[in-house]
Amino acid sequence: MLLASESKSDYNQGFKEYWSTFMAYKLLFVCLGNICRSPAAENIMNYLIEQENLHDQIICDSAGTSSYHIGSPPDRRMKDAASKRGMDFRGRARQFDWFDFEQFDLILAMDRENYQNILAVDTKGVYHHKVRLMCEFAREHPEKEVPDPYYGGQAGFDKVIDLLLDACNGLLTEIKQNNLN
Ligand code: 4NP
Repeated sequence: MLLASESKSDYNQGFKEYWSTFMAYKLLFVCLGNICRSPAAENIMNYLIEQENLHDQIICDSAGTSSYHIGSPPDRRMKDAASKRGMDFRGRARQFDWFDFEQFDLILAMDRENYQNILAVDTKGVYHHKVRLMCEFAREHPEKEVPDPYYGGQAGFDKVIDLLLDACNGLLTEIKQNNLN
């Protein structure tokens, strides 16, 4: 039983948070290591969501298909590219998991290999409709995949930001049209 009014307002606040999380449209961005492209996509999307005051309605996360960098923050070169655009990239790498199919409404793969590796986790093929390639949403860039910048120079990281800004803007427009109340 709730006795103190403070506890009751805590309870109400907790319920409101639970409900908005439950009702929100949930996006998961996936690459190989979860230290370059997918945390960039997650943070850029959050930046755009914040600008439009939609943080109660859209929730973002990211993951890697590999276990190589579990627990690591975004790559320093990716953070440098972001800070040149006035963005601060946060988060810690985790590995993609079957449970993510249940948790998220839409799963965005950065390249075709990530896409195939995600589908391979769905052995019964019931969640394929939730998985798309990120570049499908780009309007100004012709690329079909977000290139892996890890073994290249700083220019590759800058390019990833440009491409993801385009794709995230296109994705947000589509979600606003089709998936929000
Ligand atoms: P990401 O980049 O998949 O965009 O996070 C990579 C990060 C690490 C490695 C490859 C790609 N790696 O081989 O360790």
